[in-house]
Amino acid sequence: CGIVGYVGSRPAEGVVIEGLRRLEYRGYDSAGIALIDAGTIVSDKRAGKLANLEKAIAESPLPQVTTGIGHTRWATHGAPSDRNAHPHLGRASRVALVHNGIIENFAELRSRLESEGVEMASDTDTEVAAHLLEEQLETGIDLTVAMQNVCRELRGAFTLVAVDAQDPDRVVAARRNSPLVVGIGEGENFLGSDVAAFIEHTREALELDQDQVVTITREGVSVSGFDGTPAEGRRYHVDWDLSAAEKDGHDWFMRKEIFEQPRAVADSLLGRRGADGQLQLDEMRLSDQDLRDVDKIIIIAAGTSFYAGMVAKYAIEHWCRIPVEVELASEFRYRDPILTSDTLVVAISQSGETADTLQAIRHARVQRSKVLAICNTNGSTIPRESDGVIYTHAGPEIGVASTKGFLTQLVACYLLALYLAQIKGTRYGDEISQVMDQLEQMPAHIETVLSKSEEVYALARDHVGSRSVLFLGRHAGYPVALEGALKLKEIAYLHAEGFAAGELKHGPIALVEEGLPILCVVPPRGRDQLHDKMISGIQEVRARGARTLCLAEEGDTAIEPYADVLFTLPQVPVLLQPLVAVVPLQLFACELATQLGHDVDQPRNLAKSVTVE
Ligand code: G6P
Repeated sequence: CGIVGYVGSRPAEGVVIEGLRRLEYRGYDSAGIALIDAGTIVSDKRAGKLANLEKAIAESPLPQVTTGIGHTRWATHGAPSDRNAHPHLGRASRVALVHNGIIENFAELRSRLESEGVEMASDTDTEVAAHLLEEQLETGIDLTVAMQNVCRELRGAFTLVAVDAQDPDRVVAARRNSPLVVGIGEGENFLGSDVAAFIEHTREALELDQDQVVTITREGVSVSGFDGTPAEGRRYHVDWDLSAAEKDGHDWFMRKEIFEQPRAVADSLLGRRGADGQLQLDEMRLSDQDLRDVDKIIIIAAGTSFYAGMVAKYAIEHWCRIPVEVELASEFRYRDPILTSDTLVVAISQSGETADTLQAIRHARVQRSKVLAICNTNGSTIPRESDGVIYTHAGPEIGVASTKGFLTQLVACYLLALYLAQIKGTRYGDEISQVMDQLEQMPAHIETVLSKSEEVYALARDHVGSRSVLFLGRHAGYPVALEGALKLKEIAYLHAEGFAAGELKHGPIALVEEGLPILCVVPPRGRDQLHDKMISGIQEVRARGARTLCLAEEGDTAIEPYADVLFTLPQVPVLLQPLVAVVPLQLFACELATQLGHDVDQPRNLAKSVTVE
């Protein structure tokens, strides 16, 4: 969900709605706003996208006041409807509250409140917190203390932002395991789920710890623990500007972000080689000795980041000879994983806020394993709770389906693998710098692929009527196939599945029928038999009527007789091929979804960062 709070001198409606627009990628099932007007709360909330709320406000305008909160929702408890949209009000409509996360003990709190005669106006877990706050205020304390008291009663993960109609110059927020940042202005202050909420007004931000309450007024910001102990946030300057969060002439953020990939990859490689030619990862807070001791690596991640982890396994095992497991974050701690102090857990997360991944690293740290984060969001929770971090430098990723986030995660995984190889001495310096040279050529190769986007778009337009698309890959191309299928599911709502090409004959080949499109990621020709084995697999499906759409390296003539459509990729080593091979699959999904008339940036039912388990 996206959350905004404002107190200052401008009309709060404009600041809140604009903030919600920039946060809408975090959830868009419903949206709402609450303002304080002369001792009363004025609120409007609507199911559906923010545009519905804006339309409603245009029809019945809100007062021009200077304190307000807003919310854009990704539904957990209660269907996305007007009544379940946030803000929620207390019984006397004195408090308005927005919430992100899950209040786990809401059922018991709700029955207690109901037994006291409170009638619930929604099916959400959030509403209980509004009533509890109001109960507290009735005892004569202020909203800040009320919030501290209520938070101590809540279990679960939450960001709460509230206003009190009788205290119009104060907005109070709290966080536990859920994102919240403060924007510091002059004569005005802001709250947001992330800095996008207020980036057009200020680049000065304040980061909070877990279990803290923050109060903003026009004049200042104060922070405390849930027990009331004063605390201080950490000030920082946001170094990306507004244009990074604009579409720059593209129809979708996703398309813009696909085209930003050469730059994002180059930025993520910048400054990694020292003057002596040695690799250096300066955000790495683990000592060389810690890393030398590592005898097992477990990579945990969700969604697209999980596929980056699968590629990392091929690279790390090959270059470093350390066994690697890749595990879905949501499964990890429930299978009682074997962790020791010599296990390195690598958490990959673009947002740094995914609840499944966060809980997994906490579990690992309790077992005394070391945790390294690969993350795109400075100051987010996962890197903060890790022993080291490699930041990717993709810039803000707004499209819900990850693209440049994925490519830069791959870069970070290669860097980690090479760094470990350097420290462990499993590869010679020459070889490491040769791979670095190859990585440094990747932005140009990605550019070459992008220059042929029209070819991919034409292919996508040919498949507008398809009901199902399969993806095949081998080795590092296998996760690419999975990612290609995921992109198509996420934004084109098409049935799509990725398979390891060698597994075909063990089941999936039964799916093949006349005309079924199969996208095949062909490995580069090399000394091993990967390439030839892939071609055999392609022959098998083609003989059964499949339409083979092949991605293969330039000069690969062996594939030509078996490819109904051939898209050529630049010649790169097999381990690095995902960096170029996934790009046409992203373009394919983006164009197909556009042709089908879907909202590519905000696909149904999804959210950019899922902060609930
Ligand atoms: C959500 C997004 C996916 C993303 C996944 C992991 O489900 O819709 O695109 O891959 O979360 O996100 P993370 O921020 O942890 O990489």
